Parts: sequence; structure tokens; C-alpha cells
Amino acid sequence: MSFIHQTTPRIHFGLGALQRLGDELKRFAEGPVLIVTDPGVLKVGIAEQAVKAAGRDCIIFSNIEPDPSIDTALACAKAVRDAKASVIIGVGGGSAMDTAKVASILAHAKQPIAEMFGIELVKDAGVPLILIPTTAGTGSEVTHIAILSDEQEHLKKGIVTSKLFPAVAIVDPELTLGVPKSVTAASGMDALLHAVEAFTSKNANSVTDTLAKRAMFLIANNLKAAFENGRNVEARSAMLEGAMLAGMAFANAGVTAVHAFAYPIGAEFHIPHGVANSIMMGPILTFNTLGNPKKFAEAGVAMGLKANVSAEDTIDFMKRLAEDIQIPKHLADFGVRDEHVPGLASGVMKVTRLLANNPRELTREDAMRLYREVL
Ligand SMILES: [Fe+2]
Repeated sequence: MSFIHQTTPRIHFGLGALQRLGDELKRFAEGPVLIVTDPGVLKVGIAEQAVKAAGRDCIIFSNIEPDPSIDTALACAKAVRDAKASVIIGVGGGSAMDTAKVASILAHAKQPIAEMFGIELVKDAGVPLILIPTTAGTGSEVTHIAILSDEQEHLKKGIVTSKLFPAVAIVDPELTLGVPKSVTAASGMDALLHAVEAFTSKNANSVTDTLAKRAMFLIANNLKAAFENGRNVEARSAMLEGAMLAGMAFANAGVTAVHAFAYPIGAEFHIPHGVANSIMMGPILTFNTLGNPKKFAEAGVAMGLKANVSAEDTIDFMKRLAEDIQIPKHLADFGVRDEHVPGLASGVMKVTRLLANNPRELTREDAMRLYREVL
């Protein structure tokens, strides 16, 4: 076995970790700081807490929508230049952190963004970046991946480059205590799927397996508690740790077809990313078990099910969990109809970056059938 393992080089984890921000900033050049966040995080006062903890002049850019577009990333990069920012701090969920990441490499780049989509195509390092997650889901603080919506092509596209790793991640469970129930549910399932897909990816290795197993244990045993009582500090801490470990796993092993199927429906019907993944999970994981039944059974054991579980038991457990936390089960709830299926299936086949990791090969006909199972 041979592999390379990469992650964020410096991570502060724990209750109150945000207070380390000021000291961390001293490690970088002086000058203004641009805080990239979303309107929701701004409204609940977390951006303000970050400004206070930073102890430096901060300019806030919060014009970020869910599923951020290429134009949003370009506007954010302009804000970096206008502010003459020496450091960027991304505070929020995946949308804010991914926008901050792309703005970092775009701000002073001569290379156009269109040439950056793909794996390791970015030429120059960006503006130093600190990432602070406020949801337990994306794990973006420890990945070298940023996902943007291409509104012309109705596709979600990924930039993958080690230049997207932040210099520092500050991972503070206190910031997740106020996350609304529906977001806790969707982002939690997203994190669980990062771990399961990394664990069953063709590119899994012993390091990513270790990370994914611990992530599956933490998330499977704490998601319901965090959903039921958002102020449960223990459950919130376990979820944020689980999401981070899952991020470390999938940044290196990759995610697979569940995410590939979630992208076209996310881009076209604006189904929240975690919900899209959760809806697609049943049919896709069932299809995938044939590619690696042993690993799917082991995933169930990692989640804390009894020792002799089958792959089907694992998937049943995950489906029940999604039901318990009230995630929708049908694409029709979001306006997807049978006539949309051929176009969506074509969209999936374009997500070659993720399909390459899938434990089982998949055709466009399979894709159509699998979408129809959850209409
Ligand atoms: Fe995801």
C-alpha cells in the first residue's frame, strides 16, 4: 500500500478555542483582515465574536448564498484586494469556508478561475487563510477542496489543490450550540456520509480508515442527541470532532457516488447538500455494497452496531437515523419529476472525480434507475 496523507497543519480544537484567534493572527503579516462569513452567522453574532477575538482591524464580507456561485467567489476575491487583506478568515459552514478558500487563491492570481477546476491545477499559493467552522458537517476546515456552483452549466464544480488548506483551523464546539435543528440534521448526515464514503472508497488507506471509523462512531452516537437538544455541549463537541475527522478522511480517500448524485440535484433544485446526500444514500449505498460488502459491514460495527452486522444492517441503521432526525426522503418534495431524471443522470456521469473512487462501476442507466428509486 502506498499513499500520501495531507491535512491542515495547525488545528485548535475545543470549547473556547476561538479565543486563540488573536495569538494565531500574530503569526502572519500585519495589515487588515478580511472575515468571510454568511448572513446567518453574521446575524447570530458569531462574526462579531471573531472580530473581538481577532483584536485587529477586520472588514466583513458576508454576501454569500447557500451553494455559492463562481461570481460570489470572484466578488469575495475583489473584496480581498480592495481591503488589501494580509489574512482571510472564513467563519461559517461549507459555503463561507469554501468561498474564503477560493478567494484566497483567486485574489492575486493571474490564472483565470475556469482553469482551476480539477485536481492540482492551481499555479500560485494564495493569501494566508484561517478557517473557523460553525456547523458540524462539511469538514472544509481540514480539506483542500472547494465546491462552487457553475450557474451556466447547472453543475457543482470542485477545485482540489493543497493550496486550499488553511494555515490554521480553529474548531470550537461552542460556535455550533445555536445551529437550528434542520441544519444540525442535514450537516450531520453529510458528515456521516463523508466518513462512510471515505471508508468504502477505492482509495481508502489505513490512515483514512482509522479517521473514518472514529468519525462514524462519534457521529452515529451523537447526531440524535445534538438534534434533540442543541445546547448539549458533549454531543455538539463529539459531532464537531466527528465532522473534522471525517473531513480528514475524505480529503485523502475521496467521497464516492452518493456525493456525485447529490451535486446535480443540489445545483439544479437547490436541495441543501446534506439533505441531497441523505435522500440518495439508501439506493446508492445499497448499490455500492456489492463492490465491497465487508467494508460496509465493518462501517456498521464502527457505528456501534453489534459485532456481526451485515452491509444491509449498516444501511438500515443510517436510513433510520435520517428518519429520526426528520430529513426528507423524496426528491419530489423539491420539485424533481421523472422528466428531469435523464438530465440529472447525465450530470452524475460528469462527476468523474468522485465516480473514480466508487467501489462499484456505474452506468448512466444505473444512475437513472437510482434517481427514480427516491423520486
Ligand atoms: Fe459533503
